Amino acid sequence: MLAGEEGPATARMLELIVALGEVFGAERLVPVESAHVSGVSYKNLGEAGLEWLEEQADLGAKTRIRATLNPAGMDMDLWREMGIPEEFARGQERVIRAFERMGVEPTCTCTPYLIGYTPGFGSQVAWSESSAVCFANSVIGARTNRESGPTSLASAVTGLAALYGYRLEEDRRPGAVVNVTVELRDPMDYSALGYLTGKRLGTTVPYFTGLGRPSLESMKALGAACATSGGIALWHGEGVTPEAEAMEGHLEGLERIAVGRAEIEEAVAWLTKLLDDPIIALGCPHSSLREMEEIAGLIRGKDLGGRLWVFTSRGVYAEAERAGYVGAIEEAGGRVYRDTCMVVAPLREMGWTEVATNSFKAAHYLASMGLETRIGTIRELLEETRG
Ligand code: F3S
Repeated sequence: MLAGEEGPATARMLELIVALGEVFGAERLVPVESAHVSGVSYKNLGEAGLEWLEEQADLGAKTRIRATLNPAGMDMDLWREMGIPEEFARGQERVIRAFERMGVEPTCTCTPYLIGYTPGFGSQVAWSESSAVCFANSVIGARTNRESGPTSLASAVTGLAALYGYRLEEDRRPGAVVNVTVELRDPMDYSALGYLTGKRLGTTVPYFTGLGRPSLESMKALGAACATSGGIALWHGEGVTPEAEAMEGHLEGLERIAVGRAEIEEAVAWLTKLLDDPIIALGCPHSSLREMEEIAGLIRGKDLGGRLWVFTSRGVYAEAERAGYVGAIEEAGGRVYRDTCMVVAPLREMGWTEVATNSFKAAHYLASMGLETRIGTIRELLEETRG
């Protein structure tokens, strides 16, 4: 491959993986089963990123394993209704076309594991998108590093990754114990815990005790937030995650941190301002069917006048539509968008300045873009909204 026998694009992609392996001292390459590719929004890629992708496609880059795509900067069908500028939409369409030419499935979601793309326990994969990485490593027990857009694409094209980091048993061990001393009641509480933990531990693997029985939604929220304020790619939860029991022998002497109600409330306060007329943005990471059901149930009979945006994948959307949740949300003046989210869509350019959300990840990035934010549970945000 490196000698160019499988074409110049494949050789280039493998060069990238080998270079990475050399930097991190990998002894060899390993085959990977799937890739999840980020770096899709035209907002982040710009012309330079788009041209690089088109160049790879022109050179004949083709995926040889199953490869899925992260969210784009707009709903690929409803972008006009979202208020996306025409020029942005044209750039975004070219990005998706380039990925499709290379064989990447245009799933446009950060939750491929909710639409049937679930790797097996212990399998090697090459996923980018930090929240999906955290879910794959921690909840599923697959093995991936925090890949970037280009390295996950390189793995998709070559079917290989360099063997280092979270692909190795010893690097999956915890480096700190986080004792949760309060009952966590809502995915937003888990999101707060993740945000606190990432801020405190940076990239250290946490071992949580006292997590209770988190729902899938709570686990996706926890990992997304852990990966936002820090660079956490893997967490273990006592009695919760598949590798936790095997880690019990490695806890002695580790730093211990306690998190109670006061810490959770403090984290909420960091990203909460008093807002005048915010848009409520839910679905970071992309909403599950259960979240769609909850939202639909809470807003029946209201008129939100377009001030609620819910983000999800096409797969979950189709199920939610069949179950009547999409109709219920739209009847109450909310909108459901696919393929994108509140962070990768050009929200500021579309005139929004205030956002209320249940996701620390979303609030963190929106605040860093200069928007005012408020954190609350789905119930709090929807019940307090006029309409
Ligand atoms: Fe997904 Fe966008 Fe949040 S990609 S994790 S919904 S920032």
